[in-house]
Amino acid sequence: MFNFELSFVILLLLLSSSSSSSTPEAIEGLINRLDAHKPSSLLQESAAKALLKRLLPTHFSSFEFRIISKDACGGYSCFWITNYKNSSSKSPEIVIKGTTAVEIVSGLHWYIKYSCGAHVSWDKTGGIQIASIPPPGNLPPVIKEGIMIQRPVPWNYYQNVVTSSYSYVWWDWERWEKEIDWMALQGINLPLAFTGQETIWQKVFMVNKNFSLLSISLQDLNISAQDLNNFFGGPAFLAWARMGNLHAWGGPLSQNWLDQQLILQKQILSRMIELGMTPVLPSFSGNVPAALKDIFPSANITRLGDWNTVNGNPRWCCTYLLDPSDPLFIQIGEAFIKKQIKEYGDVTDIYNCDTFNENSPPTSDPTYISTLGSAVYEAMSKADKDAVWLMQGWLFYSDSSFWKPPQMKALLHSVPFGKMIVLDLFADVKPVWESSSQFYGTPYVWCMLHNFGGNIEMYGVLDTLASGPIDARVSENSTMVGVGLCMEGTEHNPVVYELMPEMAYRKDKVHVEEWLRIYSRRRYGKSVKQAESAWEILHQSIYNCSDGIADHNTDYIVKFPDWDPNLNIQSNFSKQNSIIMHSNRRSMLAESDSTLPQPHMWYSANNVIDALKLFIDAGEDLAGSLTYRYDLVDLTRQVLSKHANQVYLEVLFAFQHKDLEALESHSQRFEQIITDIDELLASDDNFLLGTWLESAKKLALTPSEKRQYEWNARTQVTMWYDTTKTNQSQLHDYANKFWSGLLADYYLPRASMYFDLLSESLRDNKRFEIEEWRKEWISYSNKWQQDTKVYPVKAQGDALAISKSLFQKYLGNK
Ligand SMILES: *[C@@H]1O[C@H](CO)[C@@H](O)[C@H](O)[C@H]1NC(C)=O
Ligand SMILES: *[C@@H]1O[C@H](CO)[C@@H](O)[C@H](O)[C@H]1NC(C)=O
Ligand SMILES: *[C@@H]1O[C@H](CO)[C@@H](O)[C@H](O)[C@H]1NC(C)=O
Ligand SMILES: *[C@@H]1O[C@H](CO)[C@@H](O)[C@H](O)[C@H]1NC(C)=O
Ligand SMILES: *[C@@H]1O[C@H](CO)[C@@H](O)[C@H](O)[C@H]1NC(C)=O
Ligand SMILES: *[C@@H]1O[C@H](CO)[C@@H](O)[C@H](O)[C@H]1NC(C)=O
Ligand SMILES: *[C@@H]1O[C@H](CO)[C@@H](O)[C@H](O)[C@H]1NC(C)=O
Ligand SMILES: *[C@@H]1O[C@H](CO)[C@@H](O)[C@H](O)[C@H]1NC(C)=O
Repeated sequence: MFNFELSFVILLLLLSSSSSSSTPEAIEGLINRLDAHKPSSLLQESAAKALLKRLLPTHFSSFEFRIISKDACGGYSCFWITNYKNSSSKSPEIVIKGTTAVEIVSGLHWYIKYSCGAHVSWDKTGGIQIASIPPPGNLPPVIKEGIMIQRPVPWNYYQNVVTSSYSYVWWDWERWEKEIDWMALQGINLPLAFTGQETIWQKVFMVNKNFSLLSISLQDLNISAQDLNNFFGGPAFLAWARMGNLHAWGGPLSQNWLDQQLILQKQILSRMIELGMTPVLPSFSGNVPAALKDIFPSANITRLGDWNTVNGNPRWCCTYLLDPSDPLFIQIGEAFIKKQIKEYGDVTDIYNCDTFNENSPPTSDPTYISTLGSAVYEAMSKADKDAVWLMQGWLFYSDSSFWKPPQMKALLHSVPFGKMIVLDLFADVKPVWESSSQFYGTPYVWCMLHNFGGNIEMYGVLDTLASGPIDARVSENSTMVGVGLCMEGTEHNPVVYELMPEMAYRKDKVHVEEWLRIYSRRRYGKSVKQAESAWEILHQSIYNCSDGIADHNTDYIVKFPDWDPNLNIQSNFSKQNSIIMHSNRRSMLAESDSTLPQPHMWYSANNVIDALKLFIDAGEDLAGSLTYRYDLVDLTRQVLSKHANQVYLEVLFAFQHKDLEALESHSQRFEQIITDIDELLASDDNFLLGTWLESAKKLALTPSEKRQYEWNARTQVTMWYDTTKTNQSQLHDYANKFWSGLLADYYLPRASMYFDLLSESLRDNKRFEIEEWRKEWISYSNKWQQDTKVYPVKAQGDALAISKSLFQKYLGNK
């Protein structure tokens, strides 16, 4: 006891002397304000307790939670895990202290991971492994002085502005509650809270009774319901309507939808707040309904250019943008934030705004850009004097020809120092902080983008995640204030989504190989040699993507090429290419015909096949584990999908060599792989189209909503946005998914239609008509989207047996 007390005191002394101020000066005021607004210790402790009860009900009494001040943590946010000192009682056993409820829950997560060998992932990636946690009364003690871990940077940010559409669109409160638990366990303390913003806009645009503008005085913005229907996107497309990319596509939003979403948002916010998180709310970016032009004829409203339509049809594209330099901008921006405060209370000071995302200002004059920036900020700060503008730094990467240093500086310095935070959105692959002198002094968050379109593909850059944030933080004059997850879609690659958020608590680089060995043990609940060896290979292959290309699945099955072999007949597509591709895929990229779409391949297929072999062998020990089953199915899918890319090339090769027999046999092989992968995916609950469709329908209150939601759900994952009879939408397959049901009923017919026309062309010795295929295919797709066939939501089949037999069938000679 005495020893413990002593080391406790020494530790405290060390802490308080080591650092008096852990927070960068620029955001010190903000952090202090946010801290002062946190709910009471009692409320946060009970929020953390409630989470414990959901996660580990059996151990509810084993833990004691306590909020402590940052002073007790050397000025940082931290968690502190100690043994409970009372030999006369069995419980509690472990005390977890933290500066907020998120800290406490992160401490709990750390303890169950590193003291009990447990693992937590999304339900859809296999869920949790807690069987390794000893029963109450037998929890392993921690070292005497406890485990105290500080956050080296204040924030752990979460979400991309499109995650709300790709991943969360159909979520009810039950699912959201699980997600917020997951966030807290991962230490996330700065999440976007974007749900229900259309409902706020409805209130601003339709019923704002007290709006005055300079000389014009308005009783009411008086935008009709019909005008708003033409403005909001459908449920599955809200993100793009919010950004002004499109309007009305998939809509209109029913009042039921609007009301439900507002209720949901209030539940989300209150849970985030209870746990001590700081939600980031949306703000006005200038995106307005067309009708505003008629109401304010003199307002500076411009029409945005085309975004991804096939023929520029203004029915869906080309929305209206109110210029930030127009005084009306500040009025509307202020009204929006005030309306949020009225609905939600004073829950945050941080607002997201991306006015210039994929939409450059009309002139590159830095003075003008600076005026625009100030106006955007003023619209926030008039409603909330402490407002801080959180902006995605995507534009500095995607539109770097416009955003040169003077333009960047003008925008970043257009607001008072410390009133802007930038997300270095793609720092895992293309960090901007390095080339912009740390965003010219602006605080930024080191984010991992990782995934596009919520595609299902195993992919990652683990070594970069384990070191990038550390390098950034310790670099000279660093302005890094957080780490973050900015993926377009969630619920895949659990390994990536455990390592990255863990970096929020890491002062030093993580040794990935070692970390993965423990990960494998934790994820499956026991140490299995073959699984650990498989992970070692995956680390060096799939999870070591160093070609600078992000995870956007372009495998031929799910993103079938719209490719006309006639036009490319003169280009040299040869068997040579496919052989090169087989043995060394990287050189294929350089040597092959550039007009043929290239699926992304960044690793040795053979090594990964070895990993799969090991994985299948591990099945003897792990067959009952859900986390194992998910990984097994995912890896088998990954291997077969890459294998199918090869077969597709063989089909084209046969066509170009007018070898009908080979063409037909390779086509059948390609189709058979699709059918087989569909069966494989059907054997795990987490790869089912039915789940997505049923979750959409479940939110509907009327038959017409049900039809609309199902159409939205089917469309988003296949071919959304406008098409013509012969033009597939530009966004077809953007959000492609490896889901059972989608392969058999959607990807398979598409491939067959194409291959049938290729055969017909050879058989009848006539030109292959790509337009025929497009017509047939697009019309099939549109019909499928309107269909209401019900797909299973429960797995069937034995994943391990299926995986084994597919391995034999396709890779048996390896
Ligand atoms: C130890 O536990 C017993 C039984 O729960 C309790 O009565 C006692 O107050 C505890 N002592 C301390 C120092 O917490
Ligand atoms: C309208 O706005 C004015 C000035 O902001 C305020 O004094 C007044 O109370 C408002 N009226 C209503 C009905 O909200
Ligand atoms: C609102 O618009 C409707 C037509 O959409 C019009 O009849 C009505 O007079 C307008 N009200 C005000 C206060 O401008
Ligand atoms: C309207 O905004 C544009 C830039 O978007 C600017 O060039 C123009 O001067 C503005 N017009 C007025 C009348 O303010
Ligand atoms: C639409 O399809 C036609 C015919 O296939 C083609 O010529 C045209 O380039 C396509 N347009 C777009 C925008 O893809
Ligand atoms: C860091 O800041 C100091 C003081 O402003 C400056 O002299 C130095 O060049 C900066 N270092 C880098 C690497 O930018
Ligand atoms: C990852 O790839 C890089 C570059 O190709 C290489 O230097 C590194 O050793 C690889 N890491 C692993 C774990 O294989
Ligand atoms: C294509 O490559 C082959 C050898 O790989 C060569 O014989 C043939 O002439 C080339 N054709 C064209 C059109 O370049």
